[in-house]
Amino acid sequence: MNLKPLEKLDRTNLYEQVAYRVQSLIEEGTLQPGDRIPSVRRMHKQMNVSISTVLEAYRLLEDRGLIEARPQSGYFVKQTPLLSHRDEPNPSAPPRRIYTVDASIALGINVALRDPNIIRLGAAVPDPQLFPVKALNRLMGQVMRQYPETCHAYNPLPGCEPLRHEVARRLMDAGCSLTPEQILITNGTTEALHLCLRAVTKPGDTVAIESPCYYGLLEILESLHLRALELPTHPRDGLILEELETALKQGNIAACTVVSNFSNPLGCCMSDSHKKQLLEILERYDIPLIEDDIYGDLKFDGNRPKAIKAYDRKGLVMYCASCSKTLSAGLRVGWTVPGRYQTKVEQLKLITNINTAAANQLTIASFLANGGYDRHLRQLRRAYQEQVIRMTQAIYEYFPDETKVTRPKGGYVLWVEIPSNFDSMMLYHQALQDNISIAPGSIFSVSGSYQNCFRLNCGIPWSDQLEQALKTLGVLIHQQL
Ligand SMILES: Cc1ncc(COP(=O)(O)O)c(C=O)c1O
Repeated sequence: MNLKPLEKLDRTNLYEQVAYRVQSLIEEGTLQPGDRIPSVRRMHKQMNVSISTVLEAYRLLEDRGLIEARPQSGYFVKQTPLLSHRDEPNPSAPPRRIYTVDASIALGINVALRDPNIIRLGAAVPDPQLFPVKALNRLMGQVMRQYPETCHAYNPLPGCEPLRHEVARRLMDAGCSLTPEQILITNGTTEALHLCLRAVTKPGDTVAIESPCYYGLLEILESLHLRALELPTHPRDGLILEELETALKQGNIAACTVVSNFSNPLGCCMSDSHKKQLLEILERYDIPLIEDDIYGDLKFDGNRPKAIKAYDRKGLVMYCASCSKTLSAGLRVGWTVPGRYQTKVEQLKLITNINTAAANQLTIASFLANGGYDRHLRQLRRAYQEQVIRMTQAIYEYFPDETKVTRPKGGYVLWVEIPSNFDSMMLYHQALQDNISIAPGSIFSVSGSYQNCFRLNCGIPWSDQLEQALKTLGVLIHQQL
């Protein structure tokens, strides 16, 4: 096995890159459980990195439960359920029908999912202790002093220039060459999605969506009186393109939406070629794509994946994202790059709420410009990854053997599938009695699918309390089966 030397220009730490290479070999099956992995010296020579970098990488892989050190023998791939692919859910197969969207159950549940007094495994909400709260508060004070009037005035669209400049700079990592003028600042991704959908649809239109689909999007579709066609989705690769093409051929789709990187709830991430093909298909039918890339910065290892927007030559992609999963959900700062629909989207922003609070925009801009965003992201991604691993391990330990669970390579949600006679809504109600929330599967569907599935949030640091909560869920699931 020959490993190429590392490219030192990569933004991630060297030891993380080494760990990523070895982990990929393990996941692809080149290195099997029980195999000896290359010695520290060999790795040091092959990859052209220091011995301490290799040791650090191996320590990281040990922490992740993927390898173990054996005295006097070296490092070996561990026997661990985390390495098995057999436990992933199959691609989804929703009914091929257009549905009127009724997200009322999701709306009701959403309130409970956000109750701070319960263990929040339901909402995909990161624990604020993972955010650089002190630094942001300090920067906000500075911003208010530096721009006292701007912060209290109406501000012109498309938003504060320093923030649009930083967003354009950051999106270069996603493969996009944009100017600040192409970016419109919004109140989070939620508003970006809302405005983009309003710009390209009218009530009664049908939108093609992933299945299962982020329930917040279903709530938006319902509020705009839009209908939805759920498309089969692969838990690792995303939307199944043949099915999309079949739907487009029938000619009644007004727009398509996807979470392109580490989607919610499946955690899937489309490959570059998949992204290109998806866009080619939509271009052929001239259908706009609303791309939600809110999790794009949260890849556990290696470089950030590209956005579909990176391939957009015709202005058909309406890119949406925010800092809610990386820096602050409360400041409500997001953005959209609406391509050829920019004027319309800006008009809609103006009549909806005029502008996004300047103090919030400038605080995020200041953090992105000189707050150590890359360092923060490295820590955050590592924290999310460890939490996903811990949670997966607990699922294997406490849930029935037949349980299937996704294996995301970024983001922080897990999608759990229990055999088909299981009712996750019942689990939701029972778990609430024990002060635990989960997100039942059916709220991610307009067709009532996924009653035997649920989503777990791994945005909370691992603790004994969390482990106890998973144990309790395991008991409840066993009882129901
Ligand atoms: C896929 C997806 N899009 C959008 C949002 C909402 O993001 P924001 O807080 O930026 O409005 C979420 C939040 O969970 C999400 O998971």
